[in-house]
Amino acid sequence: RPKVTTQTIKKLYTDGKPIAMMTAYDYPTAVACERAGVDMVLVGDSLAMVALGHENTSEVTMDDMIHHSKAVSRGMRSAFLVTDLPFGSYQSDETSAVNNAIRMIKEGRAEALKLEVGHRGAPKVDAIVNGAGIPVVGHIGLTPQSAVALGGFRVQGKSVRNAQALVDDALALQDAGCLAIVLEAMPSLVAETITKLLRIPTIGIGAGSSTSGQVLVLSDMVGVFDRFTPKFCQNYADLGPRMAAAIGEYNKSVRAGTFPIEGVHTYAMPATAEENWR
Ligand code: KIV
Ligand code: NA
Repeated sequence: RPKVTTQTIKKLYTDGKPIAMMTAYDYPTAVACERAGVDMVLVGDSLAMVALGHENTSEVTMDDMIHHSKAVSRGMRSAFLVTDLPFGSYQSDETSAVNNAIRMIKEGRAEALKLEVGHRGAPKVDAIVNGAGIPVVGHIGLTPQSAVALGGFRVQGKSVRNAQALVDDALALQDAGCLAIVLEAMPSLVAETITKLLRIPTIGIGAGSSTSGQVLVLSDMVGVFDRFTPKFCQNYADLGPRMAAAIGEYNKSVRAGTFPIEGVHTYAMPATAEENWR
């Protein structure tokens, strides 16, 4: 499969072909995404919760994200790699935003970065995209990094006023040079309106079927996150219980002495060495 580039993403968009994005957190999940042939892989800061067990995404650091992004990059061949800038790495000022963006590219080996910003963050996006030459994906709607300020993990854009604010955010992010915008947890109609207004792709999660693409959190959709599954997530597999069942079988067989099986999982000495040894 040829390498997916920013040009490939633009072409999928102009051809009206849906863009598939999936999260990955380490080498094996990156390899699984590659095998599946998704267009874009996101090292989401959701890893704070689904891979590191934090309550929310606010504690995850640049070092954490770089560590996971690097691991994912080692499993990548064709898909386009986007990594989240974590909370605190771009909120304070433009200079630190640009410096952390550069660090995530150099050390995290990402090809593009995602920032949870609206119109107020547009100057930072402009500095990263047009100043530093790094592609940026915007993220609006339910932005988990500001979930406390939003009053929890809540659907956004339900009132006309709030929906209009999302439209304004999307347009400002497009003007600032975003490659695409993630629309999270908003009424389908609002996402449809935004998608129709823009000339860059929208990637939806809990935003209906009118967006230019979709993204889901891998751990949610394969059933390896034990705490909750959002309403917008489809369960494509139930790997968590299957993993636990496999470990349970192993545990039983070790206790019963039926694993390992001599001659199957074992090594033998060459015959002459064995004779001398005995
Ligand atoms: O962190 C993440 O996984 C994300 C996706 C839900 C878009 O930001
Ligand atoms: Na994220």
